[in-house]
Amino acid sequence: MTHASHRLRDFVQTLRAHDEVREITEPVSLDDISAILESSPQAVHFHQAGPEGAELVGNVMASRARMGLALQAPPRELAATLRQRLATPQEINFVDTAPVQQIIRRGKDADLRRLPFYLQHDEDGGVYISSALDFCVDPATGARNLGSRRLFLRGHQSLSTNLSQPSDLRRIYLAAAARGENLPISFVIGTHPLDFLASALRIPGDEFQQIARLRGQTLDMVRGVTNGVPVPADAEMVIEGYLDPLGHRLPEGPYGEFWGLNGEMHINPLFHVTAITARADALHHTVSHGGRDVARMEASILAQITTEALTLTLLEGAGITPHAVYASPNAAVVQHVRIALPRAGAHQARAVIERLHAHPGFRFVQIVDDDIDVFDDAECEWTLSTRFRADRDLIVTADLPGIHADPTRDAAGRTAKLGLDCTAPPGAQDHLATRRPRLPSITRHPATNILAQLANGPANFRQLLAHSGTMDARDLAIELDAMLQAGLLRRLDEGDWSLPA
Ligand SMILES: Cc1cc2nc3c(=O)[nH]c(=O)nc-3n(C[C@H](O)[C@H](O)[C@H](O)COP(=O)(O)O)c2cc1C
Repeated sequence: MTHASHRLRDFVQTLRAHDEVREITEPVSLDDISAILESSPQAVHFHQAGPEGAELVGNVMASRARMGLALQAPPRELAATLRQRLATPQEINFVDTAPVQQIIRRGKDADLRRLPFYLQHDEDGGVYISSALDFCVDPATGARNLGSRRLFLRGHQSLSTNLSQPSDLRRIYLAAAARGENLPISFVIGTHPLDFLASALRIPGDEFQQIARLRGQTLDMVRGVTNGVPVPADAEMVIEGYLDPLGHRLPEGPYGEFWGLNGEMHINPLFHVTAITARADALHHTVSHGGRDVARMEASILAQITTEALTLTLLEGAGITPHAVYASPNAAVVQHVRIALPRAGAHQARAVIERLHAHPGFRFVQIVDDDIDVFDDAECEWTLSTRFRADRDLIVTADLPGIHADPTRDAAGRTAKLGLDCTAPPGAQDHLATRRPRLPSITRHPATNILAQLANGPANFRQLLAHSGTMDARDLAIELDAMLQAGLLRRLDEGDWSLPA
């Protein structure tokens, strides 16, 4: 079987072929990167970023369409595709030589100062690289761990990441520090969006294997030259090193957070760089994180897909099969979902809301009928004015644990959640006035006399038109009204035409 490339540079080429890349060939100051990314709906390829003239890409994952290109799936099928890929095991193959080790810098040559760290948000406490994936093997258990983690520049060979919030890496680090051991970690910079998607999954299992499964093929990995930690062989760059065991002791941040708010300064451990390895033509990568347009922040897009997949899994566990699921990128990670239930399952709306509220996240759950497109904001808002009664359909679940850093949590870490049952009442499809108007669909049949046709039973205007041969609808309207006024026809309650009683 041939290996499809999952090199970041090749993926950018795919984006280019779909007109998804803005090229900036002139030199750009690192100070200007954030503003350019925020003003660009497309991915941006900076050909000469900063004084080193680094090639840097950003906004690569900043749209559902781009993630569709990464998963090679239609944008509406991303969650289903993700679940399918995760269900298919893949191999991990260790290689001795790898593109990401074409250049090896150790000791003082491994200088972070040469990398494009930059000020990403106005009130950040320093300069960051936001695109790192951390690879780590728990020395105590052998568990392979993967995450996305921001990197805060401290010195030529030192940085911090944020290990203040609950995560597997934090747990692994605290255990290593308690044993007085260094924890080897490699930060990979410049990797395929599917590797990022794998890092955003919070499901048990071998997290390196999850990369292979999402890629849908064997994953070649190479061990770090100084710390032995395996990383994808096709990455652009790796920062190898270790967290020392001296614990959380140095201020890191503030940093613009995925909520769309500034995150406070945190106290974090110190990472020591032992090597930087890279491709000879390494493409640097940045990820938009805490900008104003939350829907274009890359953590939001990743969470959109993983939240839809999680919703399908949770509902499947409750024996509920939704018609469609959509997670809004306008809300931070795992927060707002919309679910269309098949008409026969509309009575399950409350059960769905309660099931999801019981799970971390899911602060706002809206249930609609399957005649509503959950991907369409306007249609979903429309149900609020036509199918929702606040005194009947509003569900508020109070006193639930908020996920970490939820800005609305109280001192005890609790928050409340909102559910809206926007399904129409039972039997709504049986009545004209509670059905949505559709586009007319007219199939022309050979002409039948109106009275002969109505002898078979009542018909609406469109059905009469279909059997009127080539008759112009205006002529039919005039003819029907003349027959009505002559007492040859009558109208039924929902508008159908009929012979007199
Ligand atoms: C761009 C980006 C940056 C992130 N930075 C951090 C971070 O610095 N610290 C953190 O705890 N989580 C961060 N996250 C979230 C973690 O990557 C995510 O929770 C992951 O599942 C943690 O993996 P783990 O529990 O296996 O360690 C970030 C996510 C993204 C998308």
